[in-house]
Amino acid sequence: MAETPKFTPRVFSGIQPSGSLTLGNYLGAMTKFVDWQNRGTHETIFCMVDLHAITVPQAPDTLRHNTRELCAGFLASGIDPEKSILINQSRVPEHAQLGWIFNCVARMGWMGRMTQWKDKSGKNAEAASLGLFAYPALMAADILLYKSTHVPVGEDQKQHIELTRDIAAKFNHDYDVDFFPMTAPVIEGAATRIMSLKDGTKKMSKSDPVEASRINLTDDADAIAKKFKKAKTDPDPLPGTPEGLEGRPDARNLVNIYAALAETSVADVLAANEGKMFGYFKQDLADLAVSKLSPVSTEMARLMKDPAEIDRVLARGSERAREISVPVLEQVYDIIGMVR
Ligand code: AMP
Ligand code: TRP
Repeated sequence: MAETPKFTPRVFSGIQPSGSLTLGNYLGAMTKFVDWQNRGTHETIFCMVDLHAITVPQAPDTLRHNTRELCAGFLASGIDPEKSILINQSRVPEHAQLGWIFNCVARMGWMGRMTQWKDKSGKNAEAASLGLFAYPALMAADILLYKSTHVPVGEDQKQHIELTRDIAAKFNHDYDVDFFPMTAPVIEGAATRIMSLKDGTKKMSKSDPVEASRINLTDDADAIAKKFKKAKTDPDPLPGTPEGLEGRPDARNLVNIYAALAETSVADVLAANEGKMFGYFKQDLADLAVSKLSPVSTEMARLMKDPAEIDRVLARGSERAREISVPVLEQVYDIIGMVR
């Protein structure tokens, strides 16, 4: 007889409301989330991680705006709040509560090895917030609060999911329980690492001070076309096969973006464009990006006109999330010996 799976198949993922959604978020995360939701094989929970955002300074009004705009981005990309649970992290207090417990499970050494910590704290780690250091423990709490089995993310988050597994394993071992699952990261497709348009060796990021380095989902057609036109490339034409992109990070990035937007493979894009100069290819890429992103940004702008409706979606999401998170936290408190 087939074994009954111990854990409900459940997908969780999060995005920080720390700036405008980028093309990297859209291709690396958002479109994958929509696929998972529509596949219908797993429960799906998506989160605006506002508590993670404040690990670096955020102006309160900007944070509020960005959180609502991110929610509009989820909805405009195809997340249906009836099918998926859509929440902002601070509204489900069990995230922070479990986060504290995981601060006591995780080890300083594990946190110190995180590349995101090293990158973000930079040369002046002494001045970084304690929250930035503990960031991955809160992320583990986001995931394990729902006993999530799968987490779709971009490549940069792989190390954090591995740490989540380490925390789950240590908790299970220390308390001699089989309580948390070993969550699997899901990192697939051409868009797991979209790079800066100004430097093909650097990730496209919301927090990059260079505006021309990224496409925002709020950019209009003109801005998108201009940014692609000015994107960094090399003087050679497009090769006919993926091997021809070796050592050409900027060229590779533009071809990857094209393949992801067209929902095809890099090999197919190259086969169809062999020998073309980047000046022309960039024009095609801009047209494709505008045709795919314009409907999303138009819908986001429409949704942002009614912030009260966005707040209702998030309030309803948190009620549904708490039906799962409250009992899980209760059990955790029992396991670790809190008097209830
Ligand atoms: P963040 O904007 O850092 O909160 O990231 C939210 C999600 O988008 C995570 O799953 C990231 O891995 C993904 N992501 C962010 N930037 C990129 C990028 N440049 N390429 C691919 N995925 C990305
Ligand atoms: N750390 C993730 C990022 O910056 C955001 C995040 C927070 C997340 N909690 C999560 C992603 C849980 C997946 C699952 O991209």
